[in-house]
Amino acid sequence: MNKPDSFPVYYDDLALSFEEAWGIIAAGVNNRNSPSHMPAVGTVDAFGVPQLRIMILRDVSRDARTLRFHTDSRSIKAEQIRQNPATSVLIYDPAAKVQIRMSGKTHFTATGNLADTAWSTSTPFARRCYMAETAPGTPCAKPSSGLPEWIEGKQPEEEQLVDYRANFAVVSIIIETIEWLYLANAGHRRALWQWNASQNAWAGSWLIP
Ligand SMILES: Cc1cc2nc3c(=O)[nH]c(=O)nc-3n(C[C@H](O)[C@H](O)[C@H](O)COP(=O)(O)O)c2cc1C
Repeated sequence: MNKPDSFPVYYDDLALSFEEAWGIIAAGVNNRNSPSHMPAVGTVDAFGVPQLRIMILRDVSRDARTLRFHTDSRSIKAEQIRQNPATSVLIYDPAAKVQIRMSGKTHFTATGNLADTAWSTSTPFARRCYMAETAPGTPCAKPSSGLPEWIEGKQPEEEQLVDYRANFAVVSIIIETIEWLYLANAGHRRALWQWNASQNAWAGSWLIP
């Protein structure tokens, strides 16, 4: 097939597609305009139903195969992860015309250095979410932010946040599969990489789109 010059270098190159996938994923950490900044994160509830929600991607480690997110330790997703660590993450980058679907197992970390550092380096405004008086998802009789009235519309001071640290947790997803779909009129390209623990390496293959 004759490919137009505008085709990306990774179009028919599995290794370069893998590099591009990690590039798109990692761009979400610092670039707020990147679609990977707000992926859909899927967990499984007690009835086996997939539950999706948007979360902000905070950190990526390609070496450790981890994606890091922050959440309320009292949230419904936190309980789902404690019961079943199976998690998936979905990104669609419309400019790149690339969908990335990942799956893995989640570690929930509410105490220790990782969570302490993530807490102290988050902005006071971001940490205000964790000041909700009752757990996220709790039914309420009236419309409510859940926040104490005295902090509504204000940015908390450092000392006002101390008591709420226990509501904060880090969600680290250890990625085991990465599926790639690149859309092109001339023919889509799809690939799957699976982590091979015994070989300590990713094993990739093209798939029929
Ligand atoms: C743009 C956007 C960003 C969000 N970021 C987060 C986040 O980083 N962490 C989080 O726990 N919830 C985040 N949420 C809220 C979740 O999508 C979800 O509504 C909430 O966490 C409750 O989910 P759960 O009941 O499954 O625990 C975000 C929502 C939106 C729309």
